[in-house]
Amino acid sequence: MTQTSPTLARPAASTGREWWRTAVIYQVYPRSFADSDGDGVGDLPGITARLDHLVELGVDAVWLSPFYTSPQADAGYDVADYTDVDPVFGTLADADAMVARAHELGLRIIVDLVPNHTSDEHAWFRAALAAGPGSPERAVYLFREGKGESGELPPTDWQSVFGGPAWERVTEPDGTPGQWYLHLFDTKQPDLDWSNPVVRERIEDVLRFWLDRGVDGFRVDVAHGLTKDPAFPDWSHPVSPLRVSEDGTRAPMWDRDDVHEIYRSWRRILDSYEGERVLVAEAWVAPAERLAAYVRPDEMHQAFNFEYLETAWSGAAVRDVVTRTAAASTEVGAPTTWVLSNHDVVRHASRLGLPAGTPRPNGISADEPQPDEALGQARARAATLLMLALPGSAYVYQGEELGLPEHTTMPADVRQDPTFARTGGAETGRDGCRVPLPWQHDAPGLGFGPSGRTWLPQPEDYARYALDVQRGTPGSTYELYRAALRLRRELVLATGDLAWVDLPSTASRAGDDVLAFTTGSDGGVLVVTVFGDEPLPLPAGAEVLLCSADLATGADGVQAVPANATAWLRA
Ligand code: NOJ
Repeated sequence: MTQTSPTLARPAASTGREWWRTAVIYQVYPRSFADSDGDGVGDLPGITARLDHLVELGVDAVWLSPFYTSPQADAGYDVADYTDVDPVFGTLADADAMVARAHELGLRIIVDLVPNHTSDEHAWFRAALAAGPGSPERAVYLFREGKGESGELPPTDWQSVFGGPAWERVTEPDGTPGQWYLHLFDTKQPDLDWSNPVVRERIEDVLRFWLDRGVDGFRVDVAHGLTKDPAFPDWSHPVSPLRVSEDGTRAPMWDRDDVHEIYRSWRRILDSYEGERVLVAEAWVAPAERLAAYVRPDEMHQAFNFEYLETAWSGAAVRDVVTRTAAASTEVGAPTTWVLSNHDVVRHASRLGLPAGTPRPNGISADEPQPDEALGQARARAATLLMLALPGSAYVYQGEELGLPEHTTMPADVRQDPTFARTGGAETGRDGCRVPLPWQHDAPGLGFGPSGRTWLPQPEDYARYALDVQRGTPGSTYELYRAALRLRRELVLATGDLAWVDLPSTASRAGDDVLAFTTGSDGGVLVVTVFGDEPLPLPAGAEVLLCSADLATGADGVQAVPANATAWLRA
C-alpha cells in the first residue's frame, strides 16, 4: 500500500466544543416527515414524536426546512411571518416543545432562515405595495422603474431561477401600471434590498427571536444571493450560479463580495449567545475558494459542498473534488461539509442509477429515462459510506437512511414545485424528492399520519423501503446507516488524517475505477470504494469493519469488495 499524496490537514477535534466540525446533521423536511393530525401534511408535533428515530439512527443534530407562516407557494421558502409557525405545521408552543424534546435527547436544532426574499403576503411587502413609489416601505424591496416608453419592459433581462422573467410589474395604489419588483425565485417571493439598513435590522431581530427560543443555529437560504450589483446590468447568461460566464464575468446577483459583511455581523450576534450556535451557508458557489470565503473564522461555520454532491460516479472525479474542496476549507480553518441529497435535488439513490454522463436533472418524469434501481441502491450505499468516512461534517436528508429512491412517475396534475408550472413542464422540478416518508409498510399512507392522507402521492415501491421493514433487518440500508454512524464515532473518522493510497491490487486498473484512503485516529482504517465493474480483492490480512454490500468471492476463493461498493477495513 503506497501513500500517494500528502495527508489532508485534519479539522480541529470536536470534544463537545465546536461540535459542528464533525457533526452528522439530519435534514427534516417538515411537510413530509410525519403528520400528527391527519391533514396529510407533516407537522411539528409529528416531528417531536419521531425524534427517537433520529436518536436511534445516531445523528447529532437536525436541520428543519421552514415551518413559518407562509402561503406555501414554494413549500414554505416564501415566508409571510418569520416569527410565527404556520398553522399547517402547528404553533410556536409546538416549536418550543420540539426544541426542548430534542435537547433532552441530546440533539441540536438548526432552523432555516430565508433572508433573500419574503412572501408577497408578508406585511412588509403589502405595506410596500400600498405606500407607492419612493416610499421607505418600497425601499425594503427591490422596486425599479421599467424600461421602454411607459416602463412596460422589465428593468433588466434577468431570469428567475424557477423559469421566466425575474421581474414582476405591480399595479400602483391609484390603479395605474407601475414599478417592477425583483424576484430571483417565484413571483410570490420578492427579493429584499440588503443595501437598506432597515432590512439588516429586521432580519437580525429574526435571528435573535429564534436564538432566544434556544435554537442551535440557522441554515441560511440562498446565502450567496442577498446583495446585488447596484447598477443592475443585464445578465443574459444562464442563471445557474455554479457556472461563471465564458469570459469569466461574475453574475450581478450571485456571490458578490459585499455579502460577507452581513455574515460577519450575524456571527457577532451568534457569538454573543451561550452555547455554540452555528450558521450554515446554502451557497451554490464555485470554485471551492469562493465557497470557503463564507466559512472564514468570523463568518459562517459550515457551507454545503454542492460541488461534491454534483460529482459524477468516478474515483478520479471524487478524489479531485475531495482534495480541492477540503484544501480550500482547511485553508480558512473550517471543516468541509459533505452532502449527497436534499429537498432540491434528485435523491442520490436514483441519481446514481442514471446512465453515465447524464447531467444532474431537475427531477425525473415518467417519460424520461428511468434510473436503474438496483444500481442506484448499490452506488448510493457506497457513496454514503465513502462520505461518512471523510473528515468533516455531513448532512443526511430524511429518507436516505431508508435508501428511498426519487418518485419518478408522479403525475403532472399533483406536482406542486413552482418550477414545473413556471417552465411549462420543461423542468420536472423537485416534488419527487419531497414525498412523505414511509414508516410502516402495511398502514394507510405507509404510516405517515393517522388518516392515510399524504400531500404528495407515495409511489408503490415505497412500501418495500418502509422503516418497519428495515429496522432490525441485517443488511438493510437503515441498519447500514446506523452501523456507519456508530463506527464513524468509534473510529474517530470525522477528525481523521485522510491520505490517498494506491493499493497493489489496483496497479493494472483505470484511475477512476477504485478510490482508497486511510483515515481514523491512528490512520489504521482503510476505506476502499470500487467505482468500476470489477471486484477488488481484499488486501491480505484486512479485517472488514463495514461494507455497503455483501463481499464477493473470486474463483481463487479470495474475498473481494464488489463493484459499486465501499468497504471500511482495518488494514
Ligand atoms: C433554496 C431552497 O433550498 C429551495 O427549496 C428554495 O426553493 C429556494 N432556495 C428559494 O428559497
